[in-house]
Amino acid sequence: MTTPQQILTVRDVRKSFGGVAALKGVTVSFTQGEITALIGDNGAGKSTLVKCLAGLHVPDSGQITFDGHEVAISDPRRARALGIETVYQDLALLDELTVTENLFLSREPQRGLPGLKLLDRRAMKRQAREMLAQIGAADRISVDGLIRWMSGGQRQAVAICRAVAWGAKVIILDEPTAALGVNESAEVHQLIRRLKAQGITVIFVSHNFEEIMALADHIWVMRQGMAIAGRRAAETSGTELVGLLTGATSEAVEGTSATP
Ligand SMILES: Nc1ncnc2c1ncn2[C@@H]1O[C@H](COP(=O)(O)OP(=O)(O)OP(=O)(O)O)[C@@H](O)[C@H]1O
Ligand SMILES: [Mg+2]
Repeated sequence: MTTPQQILTVRDVRKSFGGVAALKGVTVSFTQGEITALIGDNGAGKSTLVKCLAGLHVPDSGQITFDGHEVAISDPRRARALGIETVYQDLALLDELTVTENLFLSREPQRGLPGLKLLDRRAMKRQAREMLAQIGAADRISVDGLIRWMSGGQRQAVAICRAVAWGAKVIILDEPTAALGVNESAEVHQLIRRLKAQGITVIFVSHNFEEIMALADHIWVMRQGMAIAGRRAAETSGTELVGLLTGATSEAVEGTSATP
């Protein structure tokens, strides 16, 4: 058996907004092909960390390595070029456009394919169907459907599809099921497992312990701007995670489990 590779590592990353220190030296790593959950109370710094990985924020200090090389993720295009795609809670879909149009949104110039703009709609729709099929969602989402009329789960699937179809190696989902009902959440969970089966590294933020325990291989617990503990899902419990997250269970930041 080969040793698992850390596709993405974050070392001592700090980020302040004016007087607010959102990240106070975060050190975490993500294993290639695994599902990792980022958990923590409101304001713990999860979204700020995600945005540093997505190129939306530039850390004040610290190192990020991707595939073994130190990288400066200076903007979202750089993150994409590396193969890091992020799906935010608002999903950044345009309600008045169709699924196909959303799947191709803002991609033409970035990919440097001048011909893409001129592709006829039939070809685009065919490709959109293939993109949906790749994530197993072709049967429940029509490529001609307007986003406006779609359920939360379908929207999430379109947003994930857009990220995956353009070659993501790492996909980051910030609270993908927070606004969804039980059945829709189950669909998203299935989708996440499917991404893993395709070898994609998944990082997701969640407050739902059932979901965390069901999906994650590894869990990083954030509190007050730091990653205070890392656990293999198989070796922890919801109870322990709640304790770590609230501070009821204390763990030294330098603890052995914080660096897998
Ligand atoms: N753009 C910003 N400007 C100023 N302060 C910010 C900004 N973004 C985040 N913060 C602050 O940084 C801290 C961490 O916020 P962050 O959004 O990362 O938390 P979170 O863990 O994602 O919380 P939640 O679970 O509520 O989404 C908070 O105190 C927040 O108010
Ligand atoms: Mg957040």
